[in-house]
Amino acid sequence: MDFAAFKRAVGESFGLVLEGYKERQLKRRIDSLMQSLKVEDYRRYYTLLLSDPEQRRRFLDRITINVSEFFRNPEIFQILETEILPRLLAANRRLRIWSAACANGAEPYSLAILCAEQNPGGGHQIEATDIDEGALAAARRGVYRKEVLQHVSPARLARFFTEQDGNYEVREELRRVVSFRHHDLLKDPYGRNYDLIVCRNVAIYFTREIQEELYRRFFAALRPGGVLFIGATETILQYQQFGFEKIGTWFYRRPAGEKG
Ligand SMILES: C[S@@+](CC[C@H](N)C(=O)[O-])C[C@H]1O[C@@H](n2cnc3c(N)ncnc32)[C@H](O)[C@@H]1O
Repeated sequence: MDFAAFKRAVGESFGLVLEGYKERQLKRRIDSLMQSLKVEDYRRYYTLLLSDPEQRRRFLDRITINVSEFFRNPEIFQILETEILPRLLAANRRLRIWSAACANGAEPYSLAILCAEQNPGGGHQIEATDIDEGALAAARRGVYRKEVLQHVSPARLARFFTEQDGNYEVREELRRVVSFRHHDLLKDPYGRNYDLIVCRNVAIYFTREIQEELYRRFFAALRPGGVLFIGATETILQYQQFGFEKIGTWFYRRPAGEKG
């Protein structure tokens, strides 16, 4: 079985669209995992994945890379806080936000903190999705080690978290506005009418064609005037082609005034 056949077999058995991921990166990660298990060919590894749930979990962990932290790239979150969110709130006091590929939940809870500060009791809704059930379980638990909170100020820590044996648990005020669900960006339908879509540090793993498909679908999922917020190392080169206007290095807007 070659790598292409392995991807197809895994795709069919576990419902993953591995063709959408950049081939070299993906192969490197899978090969090193196989090496660590001393499994030399793809057919044996595929058989192992079929029979062993723990290996399936490790495999998924390896391809998803679900690290995250609160206010990742704080200087960029600062732009969201001081420039982007106030404009969105001026147009709509009850924001609908989608944190796509939310990993352990640090990202959607960071968004919930900003919403709580700028419009307390505003009835915002933050939908947070990811392909990885393990990451979603951690996100629902909402308990974090101090390292993940390094960019959370002491005032925010005191207001939005409860300390528990050296870890920090998010308070009800944040939990109330964030809902988590499983969603595969490569095959599941997207919602509609979001004011803000945050999709950071996942598109980098996808092929160019799939990235373009994602941006097209994000555009359709935003309401006119809505904004897409992407990762620090990402850029959408042909943003006009998808209909976006660029309003900042990491922020792209669906023009206001057109029909949703
Ligand atoms: C590096 S984390 C990014 C987390 C967060 N957005 C941030 O920037 O800190 C990448 C996340 O993408 C998720 N992911 C990978 N492939 C995905 C897919 N096809 N659909 C949805 N999520 C996916 C992974 O499970 C992982 O949690």
